[in-house]
Amino acid sequence: MNKLPLIFLGVFLTFASSWVGLVVYPYFALGRMQPLPDEDTGGFFPPSNPGLAVAGQRVYAANGCVYCHSQQVRRAPLSTDIEKGLGPRQTVARDYLRAQPVFLGTMRTGPDLTNIGVRQPDANWHHKHLYEPQTVTDWSVMPSFRYLYRMQEIQGQPSANAVKGLSGPHAPPPGFEVVPTDEANALVAYLLSLKRNYPLPESPEPPVKK
Ligand code: HEC
Repeated sequence: MNKLPLIFLGVFLTFASSWVGLVVYPYFALGRMQPLPDEDTGGFFPPSNPGLAVAGQRVYAANGCVYCHSQQVRRAPLSTDIEKGLGPRQTVARDYLRAQPVFLGTMRTGPDLTNIGVRQPDANWHHKHLYEPQTVTDWSVMPSFRYLYRMQEIQGQPSANAVKGLSGPHAPPPGFEVVPTDEANALVAYLLSLKRNYPLPESPEPPVKK
């Protein structure tokens, strides 16, 4: 008996069902999802990001931050992400509507950054850390992103945007200052925009354990 048609049908159904499961179903379930209107302020959840933060996504991508940092808070009790303070609740599809591209990440060589804008809202701290991570966290294995900064001689008054409090071997000598490039400013604006501190009905905050 010629079993070729049967084998062909089996192979076809295998591929067709995975296509339906991985492409068609998610498209109808999530493809038309919109931000939720916030009735109190007239804004939306997730809120839209300032233009500089949108540009910062490209700098984040170009510098490979995603190789060491995830952006996803997994649910309790399957993980201890919420207990560790990575975020107040599990992240869900709607949280990523504004992200272009989405940096879910698979590695946590460094901490998850989903909520870094809440955890560390000080722009100068981020500049100091990106300039030389080991001067902020002495055991850090994060590479330095000093090339996103410029060392320059102070002309008269120090620049208002110069990075303050730098220490370590690459701190500017007297009479010099370190200023962020446009890329560094965009990257820090992006990091500060990473906040999941708004409510979503499909992801309620878990009750606090007594
Ligand atoms: C080789 C891995 C690696 C890469 C690449 C990397 N990081 Fe890190 N990052 C770390 C580690 C490890 C830490 C924890 C120690 C520390 O605070 O420096 C960290 C910490 C951080 C923190 C502080 C997090 C907190 O909760 O305190 C921020 C913000 C951060 N990284 C941003 C970035 C950005 C932005 C980039 C890309 C420009 C980047 N990292 C690239 C490894 C990395």
